[in-house]
Amino acid sequence: MLKPGILQRRLVGELIQRFEQKGLKIIALKIMHIDKSMAEIHYAEHRGKGFYEELAAYIVSGPVIAMILEAQEAISLVRRLIGSTNIHDALPGTIRGDFAAQTTLNIVHASDSKVSAEREMALFFKPEEIYDWEDGNAQWF
Ligand code: CMP
Repeated sequence: MLKPGILQRRLVGELIQRFEQKGLKIIALKIMHIDKSMAEIHYAEHRGKGFYEELAAYIVSGPVIAMILEAQEAISLVRRLIGSTNIHDALPGTIRGDFAAQTTLNIVHASDSKVSAEREMALFFKPEEIYDWEDGNAQWF
């Protein structure tokens, strides 16, 4: 998920390009607004932590771009492309390393396990919004 601010900063194309050029296959993509109840579900594991209120306020503060990306080992691949959650550990060349300066405002979110990916896909997408197209170029990635 590309978090609030990416549209205002005109970064959507640049960020999607990084996933595409790596070879990830986009099978769902939309602009959406995350409301308070969706934010509470999405960030339930962080409730009670010191940064929770700021995090929840940020994610509802503007439109986001939600995507489902497919690849072999997609979760670890995407997490390496986006960089560390802690912004001080996010290396240059990663999305967070290049475009974010604060951990709470860390510009992108990615599922950290198969279980969270399943939960987040179901939270943000209806089945008919997912399009698993035939990839004639899969052999090259
Ligand atoms: P995200 O991948 O969206 O998942 C949880 C979010 O909580 C994370 O990105 C950060 O934005 C935020 N977060 C996690 N740890 C901290 C922290 N120590 N301080 C501030 N924000 C944090």
